[in-house]
Amino acid sequence: MGRPVAAVLVALCLIALTTRAAAYGEHGLRRGLEQAMRGRFLADATAGGGATVPISWSPSEFLYVANFTIGKPPQAVSAVIDLTGELIWTQCKQCSSCFKQELPLFDPTKSSTYRPEPCGTDLCRSIPTRNCSSNVCIYEAPTKAGDTFGIVGTDTVAIGTAKATLAFGCVLATVRGLETIGGPSGIVGLGRTPWSLVHQMNATAFSYCLAPHVTGKDSKLFLGASAKLSGGGGGNGTSTPLVRASAGSGSDDDGSDPFYMVQLEGIKAGGVNIKAASTGGSTVYVNTVFPFSLLVDGAYQALKKAVAAAVGVSPMAKPPKPFDLCFQKSAGGSSAAPDLVFTFQGGAALTLPPPNYLLAVGNDTACLSILSSKRLNLTDGVSILGSLQQENTHFVFDLAAETLSFEHADCTSLSS
Ligand SMILES: *[C@@H]1O[C@H](CO)[C@@H](O)[C@H](O)[C@H]1NC(C)=O
Ligand SMILES: *[C@@H]1O[C@H](CO)[C@@H](O)[C@H](O)[C@H]1NC(C)=O
Ligand SMILES: *[C@@H]1O[C@H](CO)[C@@H](O)[C@H](O)[C@H]1NC(C)=O
Ligand SMILES: *[C@@H]1O[C@H](CO)[C@@H](O)[C@H](O)[C@H]1NC(C)=O
Ligand SMILES: *[C@@H]1O[C@H](CO)[C@@H](O)[C@H](O)[C@H]1NC(C)=O
Ligand SMILES: *[C@@H]1O[C@H](CO)[C@@H](O)[C@H](O)[C@H]1NC(C)=O
Repeated sequence: MGRPVAAVLVALCLIALTTRAAAYGEHGLRRGLEQAMRGRFLADATAGGGATVPISWSPSEFLYVANFTIGKPPQAVSAVIDLTGELIWTQCKQCSSCFKQELPLFDPTKSSTYRPEPCGTDLCRSIPTRNCSSNVCIYEAPTKAGDTFGIVGTDTVAIGTAKATLAFGCVLATVRGLETIGGPSGIVGLGRTPWSLVHQMNATAFSYCLAPHVTGKDSKLFLGASAKLSGGGGGNGTSTPLVRASAGSGSDDDGSDPFYMVQLEGIKAGGVNIKAASTGGSTVYVNTVFPFSLLVDGAYQALKKAVAAAVGVSPMAKPPKPFDLCFQKSAGGSSAAPDLVFTFQGGAALTLPPPNYLLAVGNDTACLSILSSKRLNLTDGVSILGSLQQENTHFVFDLAAETLSFEHADCTSLSS
């Protein structure tokens, strides 16, 4: 039990920072970067068949990790795949207050292709929180995983089947909020921002398919042309629009929000229909660094009730933290659990069989791995789709069409 709880705490912390970052209004930063970087790091990488990146599950933190290299000769780096992350960053040799990582720190002085970004360039000038030190561009960025501070650098990055010159944060210090990410040395952001891996690869689509963590098998991330459903996508009920932050949330929506959001309309649990929110739908942040989904409290309470009723055995009186609905498997808990069907705007339906939402906790306990958004003090009708609920579904983010398409898949054997 020690590990899962630690993981939950880290994840809660990450999410709390996410929601804070959302309020920070870094729109100016992103817009500037977008302009500065348009056409700058055009991908050779996703031309042709696109790129495939294997990712593995890290049990200590419930995170998905990619191994890659930076530099010439290549130095090994491992980083957490963060769907909503704004940039790629890794801790560098000169780091003064960094968290523990398994691999040696990236040493820019040992790479012949590494270039620190000079101060006067468009890229550097477009960062509002920039600083200049000996004509080297320094950035400080609040990211969902804590504030990182470092040098803006460019170097050759080889990730999966892709190889390209990319800009990344060569971290000198993590300022706030990050004591560990459980071994990896940084983050690979896939967010809708100019620094993210997706955008630097000039990919107009990407997808991933998370293998069930219990299998221990690798999952896959696809960039560019290889990001497509086996049925070609666009089929009935497989596609829902990506939505933007609602107007009036304090930030002008200039199209540079890093998050991928969809609109959840309702949930079906066995014979029970539950509305995602009391009025209209609920905006859902799709997320890869948080294992659990969070639902608006009203919907959550109804779901909890429906699952408990369907399972039919008495829930445990004292569920282990952070859960609040658990059953003893030996008492028959989970055998009668229904499929859950999440219905999104446009009718796209995500079906979750019990293994996607009843998590084995210890030998004989299964817990509902969906929680109330009250747990994170999210009060604004926002929900989160966590990684456990995404296992064995292939999600395609089509950035040109602004849609999220998905279909059930065996993610352990998917190759595209
Ligand atoms: C990444 O490296 C770690 C440590 O060597 C290894 O356990 C893991 O399986 C690797 N993941 C992938 C996707 O290659
Ligand atoms: C830049 O660095 C100076 C000196 O270290 C510091 O006083 C200033 O606050 C920094 N500016 C920003 C935007 O971080
Ligand atoms: C980058 O993406 C844009 C938008 O799809 C496309 O028009 C452009 O041709 C791409 N550039 C390269 C070099 O692939
Ligand atoms: C899609 O599915 C819905 C519900 O099953 C049905 O009403 C609708 O006619 C279908 N649309 C198409 C284009 O097949
Ligand atoms: C879990 O099961 C294993 C193997 O049956 C057993 O050795 C262990 O004591 C059990 N642990 C608990 C906490 O019941
Ligand atoms: C939610 O708010 C309560 C009361 O203000 C606070 O004690 C708790 O730490 C907050 N939880 C999170 C995850 O921010």
